[in-house]
Amino acid sequence: MKKFVVTIAGGGSTYTPGIIQMLLENQDRFPLKEIKLYDNLASRQEPIAKAMQIYVRDNYPDVTISYSTDPKMAFTGVDFVMAQIRVGLYDLREKDEKIPLKYNVVGQETCGPGGIAYGLRSIGGVLEILDYMEKYSPDAWMLNYSNPAAIVAEATRRLRPDSKIINICDMPVAIETIFAAILDLPSRKDMIVRYYGLNHFGWWTSVTDKSGNDLMPKLREFVEQKGYAAETDDYQHRAQSWKDTYKKAKDVQALDPETLPNTYLKYYLFQDDIVMHEDKNFTRTNEVQATREKEVFAKAHKIIEADSAKGISFATGSPHASFIVDLACAIAFNTQERMLLIVPNNGSILNFDQTAMVEVPCLVGKNGPEPLAMGNIPTFQKGLMEQQVAAEKLAVDAWIEGSYSKLWQAITMSKTVPSAGVAKQILDELIEANKQFWPELK
Ligand code: NAD
Ligand code: G6P
Ligand code: MN
Repeated sequence: MKKFVVTIAGGGSTYTPGIIQMLLENQDRFPLKEIKLYDNLASRQEPIAKAMQIYVRDNYPDVTISYSTDPKMAFTGVDFVMAQIRVGLYDLREKDEKIPLKYNVVGQETCGPGGIAYGLRSIGGVLEILDYMEKYSPDAWMLNYSNPAAIVAEATRRLRPDSKIINICDMPVAIETIFAAILDLPSRKDMIVRYYGLNHFGWWTSVTDKSGNDLMPKLREFVEQKGYAAETDDYQHRAQSWKDTYKKAKDVQALDPETLPNTYLKYYLFQDDIVMHEDKNFTRTNEVQATREKEVFAKAHKIIEADSAKGISFATGSPHASFIVDLACAIAFNTQERMLLIVPNNGSILNFDQTAMVEVPCLVGKNGPEPLAMGNIPTFQKGLMEQQVAAEKLAVDAWIEGSYSKLWQAITMSKTVPSAGVAKQILDELIEANKQFWPELK
């Protein structure tokens, strides 16, 4: 069987060890020749890379791990690029969260003004990696986790329409892992789902077992009581703030009891409540720095100091890492697996903008994703999605045109923002914070 070469872009990401471990563990179905790490910040990438080299030397001596900040080295001879970069690092994520909060507006990595600000940083970074891949490995596929996936996807649809990039999100798979736990099923793969929406903005309309039996009644009964507060071994979503988010799904679900919501909808539907309960001096960035980032780098340093990875494991069972490996397999071996991906609408949602990047079930094979037809959507969802997709499209317009007014419109359009006046105040502070990363706005 062919052995694959995979580049992980954003090699210094807190998710890199988990993805590497998952890749290594799945070699019976996806054999590896080499994993190359690429990052534009050597000091961030080095500890992760060195630790993972020791881990591989001790456990999988047939696989090579290399790392570089040189695009030619990192992107030559590659089959897949798995990207997870964070342009501006946690410093800027913290500002994305804290600046809107000063105005009592949701401060979030991917939602509201913070998400839009992050979008304007990410577009350039993701396009750069995509261009490196196409220059040095024109046949490769890029599987992109880099956020905000909705805005990045709209930008790549418009600016690189022929590129082999698939934008993905782990939230639906994490929630489906919870569904499986609620239903006492061994795996989320024992269910067949229907779902539609935008990234971080969607709804399940059907969940059945493999025989087609309706599982929605049992799920609804649970969610009406407890939201998504069920036990799984998902490492990332164990943090207190994620537990709160999972509980809050109860209130979000109550708005449309026929469906089951994506957790992120809380930021658009209960924005006042979210802001009221947020600690404006200690946001999710600070929590991540104190937990995941600290733990991952501590493990890396421990491995390096001991020159041994004995007894150390990185987040096994994480839906995040297994999902990206499944996607690579689906493309490499034309498995036609059914997966939720962010793709151009093109008829999947009938009564919605055909040019929008939507999140829907797709069959995935060697030519990429083929979206399934989700049909017409109801007025409530359609209205919300039209407003949100307009905000996302305006943000991409603003980046392409360097337009202040388009960006002001984008922030004003977000349902998290109460007025154009507040939008302008937030925008002006975000411009100051993002000087190094944003195009100049006129
Ligand atoms: P992190 O800051 O730990 O890692 C990001 C890495 O990217 C850093 O090492 C940084 O140096 C590097 N980087 C930044 N700009 C770069 C560029 N232009 N070229 C190459 N490398 C660059 O962040 P994290 O918390 O591990 O998250 C990584 C990314 O994955 C974020 O964008 C996050 O939002 C995303 N993510 C997405 C999903 C999803 O559902 N789509 C899920 C989890 C994480
Ligand atoms: C979920 C989302 C991702 C997001 C992540 C944030 O997994 O799907 O898009 O990046 O949560 O996680 P964090 O733990 O960094 O707040
Ligand atoms: Mn996501």
